[in-house]
Formats: sequence, C-alpha cells, structure tokens
Amino acid sequence: MTQVSPSLLSADFANLGRDVEMLNESRASMIHIDVMDGVFVPNISFGFPVLKSIQPLARKPLDVHLMIVDPGRFVNQVRDIGAEIMNVHYEACTHLHRTVQQIKAAGMKAAVTLNPATPVCLLEDIVTEVDMVLLMSVNPGFGGQKFISGTLDKVRRLRDLIARSGSAATIEVDGGVNLETGRQLVEAGADILVAGNYVFGAADQKAAIAGLADL
Ligand code: DX5
Ligand code: ZN
Repeated sequence: MTQVSPSLLSADFANLGRDVEMLNESRASMIHIDVMDGVFVPNISFGFPVLKSIQPLARKPLDVHLMIVDPGRFVNQVRDIGAEIMNVHYEACTHLHRTVQQIKAAGMKAAVTLNPATPVCLLEDIVTEVDMVLLMSVNPGFGGQKFISGTLDKVRRLRDLIARSGSAATIEVDGGVNLETGRQLVEAGADILVAGNYVFGAADQKAAIAGLADL
C-alpha cells in the first residue's frame, strides 16, 4: 500500500471545488499543493487566497509544497490555511534548521525538499529533525515533465541515511510519476507518490489514484 498525494497543479482551475471533491472521494492520502513565486522557479501557480477557498472543501490533509524563496516568511500563513505538512526547499532556506523548528512549533509536520541536483548527503544534519523528505524527480516549476531516472538511486541512498540515523522521516517523490515510475520508486523505498498529470490527465481519475495506491 502506497500513499498518494495528487498534485492540484494539474487540476482544472475553473473547477477546483469539483476536483477537490473528486480527491475527497478517492483513495488519495493527501492533497499536494504547489505554490510558486516566479523567482525560485520560472512559473507562478496560486497563492494563499486560493488556498483559503480550497481548505474548507478538502477532507484530506494538505501537503503544501512551497517553491518560493525564503519560505520561512510564510509559516503562519501556511498554518492558517490548515496545512498538515509544510515542504520547504533545501535550496531556498539560508537557515533551514530554524525554519524546520518554526514549522514544527506552528503545529505542522516539517518536510525538506531536494531539487534533482542536490545530493541526499546534505541532509545528514537535519534528517532526524524532519517528518518527511520530498525528492524532486523533475526540475520544479511545471507539471507533466519526464521522470529523472537517477531519482531511484537517490531514494535508495535516502532510505539508507534514514535507517542509519534513526530518523522517522517518510520519503515522498514528486515529478513524472505514473504507474511504471511509481512502481520503481516504491521498490526503491518511496512511501508517498505525488502525481499531477498522471491523475488529472486520466479518463478515470479515481482509478488512476487507486492504481498508484495499490503499488
Ligand atoms: C512540479 C510540482 C509537482 C507537479 C508534478 O514543480 O512540484 O508537484 O505538479 O506534476 P507531474 O506529476 O505532472 O509531473
Ligand atoms: Zn510539488
């Protein structure tokens, strides 16, 4: 059984309420929410006013992925939209340890995200402090990109680091996930799969989620 966190980035933004309701009724474990600032990544998605409208409709935990510079500025806003998990990029935080403590003090689970070129070994001194590590398997900013296959070895190295350090962190992977790459990721040791295009591009979206959840 694998946890699935469908990415709302690939939803129909003119029908967000309908798509959130589909996720409520599906086997998704969480709802993945991609916030972009046009600086950390070359794209802009949606911000807090939109998330405030979604939150009362969602009956699954919100897994908020911030692709923004200095995300520690927004801990309170992310808490106020009812997020269960706040994901911040390693590359976007000058004082990552402080930001992780602030997220936990605000009552959320803290997750650190790594871009494809950022090695797992850089997590050595923070992995025992975090609830989840999110490995990007595409360069962040857009849905529908091709899975970077080197992520599979990265998942294995992260699994090893977590075991060696006694960390309780779970492993989430984001980008280019479909049934085939999802299966490979689960075999490598991933706990949670994010999927945008694969879910929202499917004729039967709930069946696509169920297929990943069965991996
Ligand atoms: C990319 C986002 C992803 C994206 C994944 O920057 O972080 O969450 O929605 O989309 P797919 O699954 O289509 O690669
Ligand atoms: Zn994401």
